[in-house]
Amino acid sequence: MQGRALLIGNWKMNKTVEGSAGHARTLIRALEDWWDPKLVQVVLAPTALAIAAVGRILAGTDIAVAGQNLELGTEGALTGGISGYLLYEAGARWVIVGHSERRQHFAEDDALITEKVKAAWQAGLNAVVCIGETEAERNQGATERVVRQQLNLLLAGPLKGGLTIAYEPVWAIGSGRVPEPEEVAEIAAIIHGEVGARWPEAENRVAVLYGGSVNAKNLGGFLNQADVGGALIGGASLAAGEMAAMVRAAQQEGPRAR
Ligand code: PGA
Repeated sequence: MQGRALLIGNWKMNKTVEGSAGHARTLIRALEDWWDPKLVQVVLAPTALAIAAVGRILAGTDIAVAGQNLELGTEGALTGGISGYLLYEAGARWVIVGHSERRQHFAEDDALITEKVKAAWQAGLNAVVCIGETEAERNQGATERVVRQQLNLLLAGPLKGGLTIAYEPVWAIGSGRVPEPEEVAEIAAIIHGEVGARWPEAENRVAVLYGGSVNAKNLGGFLNQADVGGALIGGASLAAGEMAAMVRAAQQEGPRAR
C-alpha cells in the first residue's frame, strides 16, 4: 500500500518576493490536472519576506507554506526576529527548525531547538526538525550516536503538535553526494524507534524525511525505504519544473506504508 509522501521545498536565502510569487504560480500550473494531494503533500518554504505573497497565491490550493526559522515568543523587543505567531499570521502553517545551517552559523543547539519546537506548536505550526551528522562524525562511525543525541531533548517532553523529523546528513547538503537509501532507512528506523519508545501513541503521527542533495532522479530510491516518508529539498526545489518532477516521482513511487 502506498502512504502519503511529504515534500518540502526549502528555498533558503533565495528568490525575491516577486520571484517567489512567480515560482509559486509556475508550480501550480505544472501540477495542474495530475497531482493528487492525497498521495503527495507539498510544502514550500520561501524567505520570511515572501511568505505572505506566496501564501496568497497558494490560497485555495493544497500547497502549504512554511517558515525557515522562528524565534521564541510572540511579539516584543527582539530586533530582526520573527516569531511563530507572526509566521502563522502571514500564512505559514509549517516551520523548519534547527536546520544545520542554523546550527552552524547561528549556534543553535538542541536546547534552543526544543524550545523553538514548543513555540511553533504554541503558534499552531507544524514543526520540521532537522538532525544529522557532520562528515567528521560520520567518518568516526558516530552517526547513530549523534542522531540519538539530537533527538534526546526534543523527545523528552510531550508531543503537543505536528512533528516531522528530517534526517539531513550535513555532508550531503548542497554537495551532490547522498548516502545509500539503505543507510537512510537504518537511520529512519532508529528515529521511529526513539519516537515509539518515548511516545508510543504518537509513533504513526511523526514522519521521517530524508534531506541532502535530493533531486527528481534519486528521490524514488529514498521513498522506497519503509521508514522514509518524504524529503526536505533545497537546491532542486528552486526550479519549479524540477519540483514538479519530484512531486511526480513521489506520486508514482512511494512512500511504502509502514
Ligand atoms: P539541498 O539542501 O537539497 O540543496 O542539499 C537540503 C537542505 O538543506 O535542506
